[in-house]
Amino acid sequence: MRIFVLGSGGRESALVWGLARSSSADELIAMPGNPGIARHAETIQGDPVDVGAVVTEARRLKPDLVVVGPEAPLVAGVGDALRGEGFSVFGPDAAAARIEGSKAYCKELMDDASIGTAGWEAFETVDGAIVKLDEFGPPYVVKADGLAAGKGVVVTSDRDEAIEAVRERLSGERFGDAGRTVVIEEFLDGEEVSLIAFSDGSNLVACEPAQDYKRVSDGDRGPNTGGMGSYSPVPACPPGLADDIVESVIRPMVRATAGREAPFVGALYAGLALTSRGPRVVEFNARFGDPETQALIPRLDSDLAEVCAACAAGSIEGYELTWSSDACVSVVLASGGYPGAHATGRQISGLDEVEADPRVQVFHAGTAIDGDRLLTAGGRVLAVSALGEDYGRARARAYEAADRIRFEGKHLRRDIALKAQDASEEVG
Ligand code: AMP
Ligand code: GLY
Repeated sequence: MRIFVLGSGGRESALVWGLARSSSADELIAMPGNPGIARHAETIQGDPVDVGAVVTEARRLKPDLVVVGPEAPLVAGVGDALRGEGFSVFGPDAAAARIEGSKAYCKELMDDASIGTAGWEAFETVDGAIVKLDEFGPPYVVKADGLAAGKGVVVTSDRDEAIEAVRERLSGERFGDAGRTVVIEEFLDGEEVSLIAFSDGSNLVACEPAQDYKRVSDGDRGPNTGGMGSYSPVPACPPGLADDIVESVIRPMVRATAGREAPFVGALYAGLALTSRGPRVVEFNARFGDPETQALIPRLDSDLAEVCAACAAGSIEGYELTWSSDACVSVVLASGGYPGAHATGRQISGLDEVEADPRVQVFHAGTAIDGDRLLTAGGRVLAVSALGEDYGRARARAYEAADRIRFEGKHLRRDIALKAQDASEEVG
């Protein structure tokens, strides 16, 4: 198969690496890709959100399969346009991607399908939202309705801060149209877990659970980021619980989207809080999680290209995924200051040494090449993923590699998968 991949982040780096390992994939082309992706795929310039440009390239390349990494092109209708041209696409049409493009729409679907989630209401005025904030009480949860690159959510116990978050969103100042509607939610307590399923529009096959770390600093302190690390599997979500979540949350959502004439083809992501009343959905996404993918793909022994093609062809029923019994821990190396202002253009060294170990993979997120130098080019720079027979060994390997990679201002969390390591030591 010739496969055309859209995107340029750490998630796409992991997907391209997984596709490159697939015996059914012969040729990989990525738009725009990044220096890590360029080791496995031809990279071409272009913006994946520019639907016209994507279609032009697809006509030229004639891929057997297009894999769409990020949400923005999906919400913009890249899936529809490519399917309209007869291409096979892993990634939903815009109508199904709306589960991520509008939090209010997603909440409506969940309520219709009786999927457990936080109580909620959508508002277009500040006064209405304040009444709801007071009804739910602290901690307050305020979300921009539309796409906000993970930065549209505020969780705070400070009422003034919550009201200010509502104002800021509705004013359009910071989030533009994505914030013209706000969603006020009930606070969900409990450990979070991400369950991602391959869906062909009516059937699904679930991945093993993963967990990500959204806050910038150890102990879940500091502002939310795009994700500072991840691991898989998750002791807090053993196989029986994962199966229950597939049946009570993910399968009903696949049915609900199909029922709205918007069958979901691609990676359906459910982010859940494991509350004392049972699992509750925090969010659905219309694509693989970032950075969960960086901890999942190294554990996937099945042919990723074949699985994605089966989804696009509507034939995933009965497919069985094979997972390594190893744990995978992925540590994000970020630029100092992220998610706020941060420097770029810093030289990165030490990659060659760590990549000699086949159990370590370094996925690129924000990097650039300048001659023979590799430079930082974003907030999240690299994700260092390592496999190990248990969490302790996977963590030791990941952190040893992370420490060998150097660039000025490097910031990382030291507690990725620490809870999982402690939990499994207690059990075992
Ligand atoms: P989202 O973009 O909806 O996933 O929200 C980002 C993060 O905010 C989540 O991963 C949670 O950590 C937190 N969050 C979102 N909604 C809630 C909620 N209802 N209760 C508690 N935390 C939440
Ligand atoms: N890791 C959360 C997300 O991909 O949205």
